[in-house]
Amino acid sequence: MKKHAVFLTRSLPDRVMAKLRESFTLRVNRHDRPLTKSEILRGVREAGGLIAMLSDSIDREVIQTAPHLKVIANYAVGFNNVDCVAASERGIWVTNTPGVLTEATADLTFGLILSVARRLAEAEETVRSGTWTGWSPTQFVGADVYGKTLGIIGMGRIGQAVARRAQGFSMRLLYYNRHPLSADDERRLSARFSPLSELLSQADFISLHLPLTRESHHLIDEKALCTMQPTAFLINTSRGAIVDEKALIRALYQRKIAGAGLDVYEAEPSIPRRLMKMKQVVLLPHIGSASAEARVRMGMMVIENLMAALAEKRPPNAVNDVMRTIVS
Ligand code: DGY
Repeated sequence: MKKHAVFLTRSLPDRVMAKLRESFTLRVNRHDRPLTKSEILRGVREAGGLIAMLSDSIDREVIQTAPHLKVIANYAVGFNNVDCVAASERGIWVTNTPGVLTEATADLTFGLILSVARRLAEAEETVRSGTWTGWSPTQFVGADVYGKTLGIIGMGRIGQAVARRAQGFSMRLLYYNRHPLSADDERRLSARFSPLSELLSQADFISLHLPLTRESHHLIDEKALCTMQPTAFLINTSRGAIVDEKALIRALYQRKIAGAGLDVYEAEPSIPRRLMKMKQVVLLPHIGSASAEARVRMGMMVIENLMAALAEKRPPNAVNDVMRTIVS
């Protein structure tokens, strides 16, 4: 039987590549860099399936140049990089990879919480640079995490996984979500629904776990940052544009908040110079899902979605009807 043509914009882990090659006629980006727009346009022309990364903008133009395209399988849980409206208009499935990267992303979120509170990056740099002169009662004194208040904005799978970790640190848990959790889930997580302004003003750590949509774009703006306590930390492992980065830099500079732990940025991979100079921020290169196990699971999920869509079935992780419109 003739295999379907699939275009892959970045190489994936070996196990995933082997399975992809076995199942499809694969055309793959051979460079270790994101493709340019014109390379993507050329690549999708003959493809029935497209495997896209969160760094690829799959906009209306790309979708319109792909006459045979049946499915855009995004290798990420977030899919703000895909124009779902344009895809749906053409009857193209859009899929994502929910669930399989939840724990990896929650682990990294907690890593950021601990890093900013206890100044891990700064302290490690002192050891590595050979400038450590020995133990001191006043060196690298940070903040407690244990027993503090964590505010989670966006209480979906990842938000809840972060909440479960917070229980081990005896943290008081406030959350804000479009829809409150059931009373059972609130009890299970020891979490209390809180209006956004209350959460912002009470939490010692505020962690963002919501998708980027028109509504969430710059949700954390100047006003939100000024509502936070001067001792509070902002953690973002979701999407950069949920935070107004310029306002964040001002708030950090003016000590309106104590620090930030960031894995995502407004214009990745570019990061404002002023942010890079600040010692009270920990900056990671968008590695929320970057555990070997999670990346293989994501790939296998992508394959399931492709197989279903190319066999004219509804893919298990279709997001077309979620209708979150792209924010570019
Ligand atoms: C996703 O899958 O959306 C994450 O941002 C990956 O780290």
